[in-house]
Amino acid sequence: MPKTMPHHMIKKYVQQVYAKLATSGTTNVSHAPIANGEDLAHTLGYDTSGLSISKKAWDLFAGCGNPLQEIKLESHWTVIDVGCGVGIDSQVVALSLQPPGRVIGIDLTVALLRQAKEHAGAHPGCHWMAGDAEQLPLRPANADLVLANGSFNLMPDKEQALAEIWRILRPGGYLALADLIVVGEMEPIMEGFEDAWSWCVAGALSAGEYDVLLKSKGFSWWELKEKGNYGPLAAVHLLAQKRRRD
Ligand SMILES: C[S@@+](CC[C@H](N)C(=O)[O-])C[C@H]1O[C@@H](n2cnc3c(N)ncnc32)[C@H](O)[C@@H]1O
Repeated sequence: MPKTMPHHMIKKYVQQVYAKLATSGTTNVSHAPIANGEDLAHTLGYDTSGLSISKKAWDLFAGCGNPLQEIKLESHWTVIDVGCGVGIDSQVVALSLQPPGRVIGIDLTVALLRQAKEHAGAHPGCHWMAGDAEQLPLRPANADLVLANGSFNLMPDKEQALAEIWRILRPGGYLALADLIVVGEMEPIMEGFEDAWSWCVAGALSAGEYDVLLKSKGFSWWELKEKGNYGPLAAVHLLAQKRRRD
């Protein structure tokens, strides 16, 4: 009953779980399917019928919230969607951008990125890259907004992931994240540790841990909004801003 695992093994398992989502349209953790699809998106506040995004893409949506509710996009922005999955948030953003604005969706799971490429054909402002959030293949201080919908909890080295987000953000740029946080007493995870990682539980932080982490990385301002309570866990939206001068 491992309480932790080497980081590369967590990532490998997470990739397997999400590759299965890409190829089968559903994927199980602890013998139950993870929440995904158009109904989930609708419940989380997405306008699934009013946007020109294909049904096949909505079917593979697996976010924890709708981080775009927290930010007013500007049409010239460079937006990075970290752990983009099938790229719903990337596509929603692309609908509001004008050149030179663009969105780059990055994900560890190549099979899911393939689906993103296939189903986002109608959105020329979208670009896709395979990559690890803990080592982003992007130049520094160039992004206006980084999104992470249901992906931050899956990153085993959060300090490194946040350091990378900080590095690629321009001064004054924003991080908008949706994920689960710990708000109560969690039972120790005695089995299915890999599964608990894959559905955003084992990697969840508390609000206090976010405060320490964001402060240590130099974010000047942040706000955490609770969007739903699930016992010891809560779904939240986090909006943080990189301080204006390094
Ligand atoms: C719960 S899914 C959410 C996907 C997408 N944001 C959405 O809303 O549908 C989490 C995604 O994060 C990706 N991911 C996990 N760890 C990652 C990492 N270290 N770097 C990049 N992507 C990662 C997974 O491959 C998966 O596609």
